[in-house]
Amino acid sequence: MTQYTIAVLDGDGIGPEIIAEAMKVLDVVQQYSTASFDCQHLPFGAGAYFSHGKSFPEETKVACDQADAILKGPIGLNFEDSKKIPIDEQPERGALLPLRRRYDTYANFRPISLPQSMANFSPLRPEIIGEGIDILMVRELVGGVYFGAKKRGVNADNKRYVTEALEYDEDQIRRILVVAFNQAKKRKGVLHNIHKNNVLMSSVLWNEILDEVAVDFPEVKVIHMLVDAAATHLCLNPRQFDVMVMENMFGDILSDQGGGILGSLGLMPSACMGDKVSYYEPSHGSAPDIAGKNMANPYSMIGSVALMLDMSFGMTREATAVWQAMQGVFADGFTTADLAGSADSEKLITTEAFGDRVVAKLTELLA
Ligand code: IPM
Ligand code: MG
Repeated sequence: MTQYTIAVLDGDGIGPEIIAEAMKVLDVVQQYSTASFDCQHLPFGAGAYFSHGKSFPEETKVACDQADAILKGPIGLNFEDSKKIPIDEQPERGALLPLRRRYDTYANFRPISLPQSMANFSPLRPEIIGEGIDILMVRELVGGVYFGAKKRGVNADNKRYVTEALEYDEDQIRRILVVAFNQAKKRKGVLHNIHKNNVLMSSVLWNEILDEVAVDFPEVKVIHMLVDAAATHLCLNPRQFDVMVMENMFGDILSDQGGGILGSLGLMPSACMGDKVSYYEPSHGSAPDIAGKNMANPYSMIGSVALMLDMSFGMTREATAVWQAMQGVFADGFTTADLAGSADSEKLITTEAFGDRVVAKLTELLA
């Protein structure tokens, strides 16, 4: 029996609802495996600011420090409600970025995966989707403009101005590229390097380091693509991509586009890997407009559990079963509200019902 401690950050908006479904799935996994999970729920996000005065409270930091992995729900408020929190404590700046920095989770894995059985969710034409989409976006997560120097002031002409720097040193670039090359080597031997070296000096350095790293991976073919062109190619011919690597902000934007070509951000789980601690979260926000309505799609949250089982605990069999169970629910014709465009309404299921169906399928697969 192996015991794992998981720091669970329920988050804001739909966070607690989709985390509840993730917990059901973990229960099944521990019932049918040699692992047991000690899940500690901790305050984090806007809710934590209102209850504890900090969006990333000290007790949460201590528990995360000691956890084997961190499972995080989405955080944040809508535009208007955010203004009730001082800028530095707003959950993105006050909690999420500090979490990433604290555990130096530099490698963000964002799978963009659409098996044939879910192809009807995509806004793309069937001939573009072909046998399905299976891309791994590798996004650098703790550098670039997100973490660069920022300064706001009034200039000599008495105008308000701001600068924020896109900063990387060579070690930061090298380590993310090594991660991406290793993934490409394991998968199809092709790596799309996404950059903007016709404008940004950061991309010039990035590509220089890439040439150095590539020497150690002769079996990987590198294809260079400008980030703006990549946005177009993702729509027109997503099947050309297997592993894509890019800096932080490019990855933020292109991964949401990835959700778009799947049909919903609700289909976007992610893994944020550090060398010591890793955390797992949906790529999407807390969707305050549908919070508490039992209509959110828990796929990206449960998918984040699958990534955690696989990448932090080495439980590949269980992780595979979780994916199969979720995809099986869709293959049976059920759909969640975010994907409902193409479904008849009696097949529309709630957050809880989706979780229950996953649990039933998973139990069959693991028992
Ligand atoms: C994401 C999110 C975050 C980001 C926000 C919430 C700060 O959009 O994980 O993609 O920009 O990284
Ligand atoms: Mg984003």
